Amino acid sequence: MRVGLIGLGLMGYQIGYNLAMRNIDLVVYNRTIEKAEKLSKEVPVRVASSPGDLVSLSDLILLMLADDEAVEDVVFGSDFMKYCREGKTVVNLSTVTPDLNLRLNREVARHGCSFLESPVVGGPSQAKAGRLILMISGDKGVYEKVKGHLAYIGEKHIYLGDIPRASILKLLANSIFIGIATYTAEILALAEAYGLGDHLVDLLKSTKYSPIIELYLSRFKDPDHPKTFTLRNAAKDLTYAEITFNRSRYPAPLVSAAANLLLEASRTDYAEEDYGKIYTYLVKQVLKASGESK
Ligand SMILES: NC(=O)c1ccc[n+]([C@@H]2O[C@H](COP(=O)([O-])OP(=O)(O)OC[C@H]3O[C@@H](n4cnc5c(N)ncnc54)[C@H](OP(=O)(O)O)[C@@H]3O)[C@@H](O)[C@H]2O)c1
Repeated sequence: MRVGLIGLGLMGYQIGYNLAMRNIDLVVYNRTIEKAEKLSKEVPVRVASSPGDLVSLSDLILLMLADDEAVEDVVFGSDFMKYCREGKTVVNLSTVTPDLNLRLNREVARHGCSFLESPVVGGPSQAKAGRLILMISGDKGVYEKVKGHLAYIGEKHIYLGDIPRASILKLLANSIFIGIATYTAEILALAEAYGLGDHLVDLLKSTKYSPIIELYLSRFKDPDHPKTFTLRNAAKDLTYAEITFNRSRYPAPLVSAAANLLLEASRTDYAEEDYGKIYTYLVKQVLKASGESK
């Protein structure tokens, strides 16, 4: 089975590296071609000239793109669909809205291709090690056919039945991961304004909340902390969660508050930096507000 991978950002690049290192016959495509060329110098991969070129060369097509807009541009705004036909399977690993995965499922099926949604948990280092967690929805038979190959990306699979259950589980999980980080950043920034930042950290480290503070401290405060997940994508995930929850059972006001805050921060120069920069952004906001209130 030849595998095609579209999207070589922070995650896709490492997924591609890992698959090629496992001797998977791999073809890649990225909008910014230099990233594909860089990967092809590191590991044996073929570089496709367009999304359609990649689809025509692949049996299993993986998408690892930023957001709804990126997936729509690639799938509906290029030659992608022209080469989608029976026998091929498209798996969307990107975190997108449940509505978009439902639409992709319909449109891809109209062209005779199979479709699965499979958002992931884990960052670039888990991607490189083939240790991502995959949440998967779509036809069980299709999943059985490709699950051996998906296991190269990560062995833990949570199969959830109908689309878009996997998308919803991913948005619920990220509302916890990103929500806790955002809330913690806000309170730490406030503590700095009171001159109590170090004391709060010290206090928390002496309680059972110590793992939470340890989890985020270097991400927030170490200027050399590597970028593994952008502020733009964190804001996008919580915005998609907000839209999804608002439309269904309960409007989830805390998710909306975190989404709005991250969206504001992602309108600054921090957008393409690691999402830990939410702390630096909030420290500045708090200092500004304290200056204004004097
Ligand atoms: N990073 C993480 O820790 C993590 C963990 C779990 C899930 N995710 C999810 O996985 C997905 C990828 O994440 P990432 O961190 O790899 O993101 P990223 O570094 O921002 O990479 C985004 C990718 O999408 C492409 N792209 C963006 N807009 C496009 C457009 N309009 N047309 C074509 N291609 C476009 C980019 O191409 P260019 O190179 O040309 O810009 C790049 O390949 C996202 O949905 C994210 O939420 C990320």
